Amino acid sequence: MEPTGQTFGAAEPASSSSPVRGNASPSVIYKAASWFEPLDWQAVFERSQPIEIDLGCGKGSFLLWAARTYPTRNFLGVERLLRRVRRVDRKAARGGLNNVRLVRLEAMYLVSKLIPDESVSTYHILFPDPWPKRRHQARRLISPDFLVDAQRTMTPDSAVNCATDHEEYFEWIQRAFERSGRFAETEPVVLPPEAQTDFEKEFVAAGKQVHRCRWLKR
Ligand SMILES: C[S@@+](CC[C@H](N)C(=O)[O-])C[C@H]1O[C@@H](n2cnc3c(N)ncnc32)[C@H](O)[C@@H]1O
Repeated sequence: MEPTGQTFGAAEPASSSSPVRGNASPSVIYKAASWFEPLDWQAVFERSQPIEIDLGCGKGSFLLWAARTYPTRNFLGVERLLRRVRRVDRKAARGGLNNVRLVRLEAMYLVSKLIPDESVSTYHILFPDPWPKRRHQARRLISPDFLVDAQRTMTPDSAVNCATDHEEYFEWIQRAFERSGRFAETEPVVLPPEAQTDFEKEFVAAGKQVHRCRWLKR
């Protein structure tokens, strides 16, 4: 049964678009027939239920915790490093989770080109790469363009949850949301220790402060 209390967000044959499934390999990596057309969520997930996306899911601790804890939601993990995608895939397969899928993609491309309008109930952006050097800041995931596409793809009353240990990036994130005019800030969600991401565990162990925010679609 789905836990009560505060919420944070709320197979087809491999020849077409499908998770790579076979008797020997119960992979949850999703491979679309075309990466140039919007995703068909019915082909991605087995059940039609709210969709939450973890952008930059890393080693997947949060993603897998969320999928286990909220079986009545679907979770898509997005990660550009193949090694990490495979690692999460193995863990998801071992856990027998059928409400989680993974894609190895560039997050901005996914959100701007592949996510259908008004179809995502929550984006999780947890400890995104901070790109601290000024000349690299254009690589930051959260930007005015990203927020336009994020808002377009979100259902009414949906949310973006962000967390970072990097104070300057946190201020940048807050400014970007405020200036976009497309979101309203609300209280960040408090999650149990089991929900910590892999990077979060390291930062907390090192005594770093974690900054969190949650923005609702207007
Ligand atoms: C600092 S790690 C945080 C991982 C995880 N969210 C956590 O908190 O443990 C950032 C992750 O995002 C991935 N990443 C960074 N930029 C990305 C992008 N544009 N598209 C997809 N993945 C990205 C990195 O490969 C890395 O695994």
